[in-house]
Amino acid sequence: MSRVLAISGSIRTESFNTALLNAFGSLAPEGMSIEVFKGIDELPHFNQDLEGDVPASVTRLREAVQAADAVIISTPEYNRAIPGVLKNALDWASRPYGQSSWQGKPVAALSASPGAQGGVRALEELTGQLQNLSAYLVRGPEIAIPEVHTRLGADADARATLTDPATAGMVKYLLEALQVAIDTKAGENHVKALGAWAASLNG
Ligand SMILES: Cc1cc2nc3c(=O)[nH]c(=O)nc-3n(C[C@H](O)[C@H](O)[C@H](O)COP(=O)(O)O)c2cc1C
Repeated sequence: MSRVLAISGSIRTESFNTALLNAFGSLAPEGMSIEVFKGIDELPHFNQDLEGDVPASVTRLREAVQAADAVIISTPEYNRAIPGVLKNALDWASRPYGQSSWQGKPVAALSASPGAQGGVRALEELTGQLQNLSAYLVRGPEIAIPEVHTRLGADADARATLTDPATAGMVKYLLEALQVAIDTKAGENHVKALGAWAASLNG
């Protein structure tokens, strides 16, 4: 069984991004379970002063990322960038220095917005962040979902249903690509390749 941790970049109750991630379970390939992480709103603002004795919320995030075979992140776009609360979570899980939870982790990223561009600028920023963190980025089709409110079930009960077949097809493809990355240990190989490159620089 592959365990995928889903992180929404939005902490609002009626978030479209969170609703989307809740809909992914039914689109996942056989043998993949998807758990939507709750608690990035409990993380304190990142502060190096807190690193000696981190709060339980930080440990919970780090352990959840470490225990997952892969991570999927869906982000909104706030003023052309990822929300601060998501950046905060990326930062906390990147520490302590040398023990980043992101290194070699297969990660798929997508964005969603009620707007016409689907939050694509936030998605670009997020993928850049993940690359810098040495995550293994799983590239499927670029999924920046525009007018997301038209692609989810309309009422409160049906909201965790992706009603647009084209978007559902892209998500399925992305989740299958994530499964391939898990099966082939692509993240571990990525870290080994990075290590070999770093060693070559040292002569
Ligand atoms: C402060 C703020 C800035 C926003 N900036 C953008 C933006 O740059 N691009 C965009 O597509 N939507 C923008 N929006 C609209 C969000 O996409 C919208 O609120 C969306 O529903 C948030 O995601 P969520 O539903 O997952 O919470 C902004 C919303 C807020 C509150």
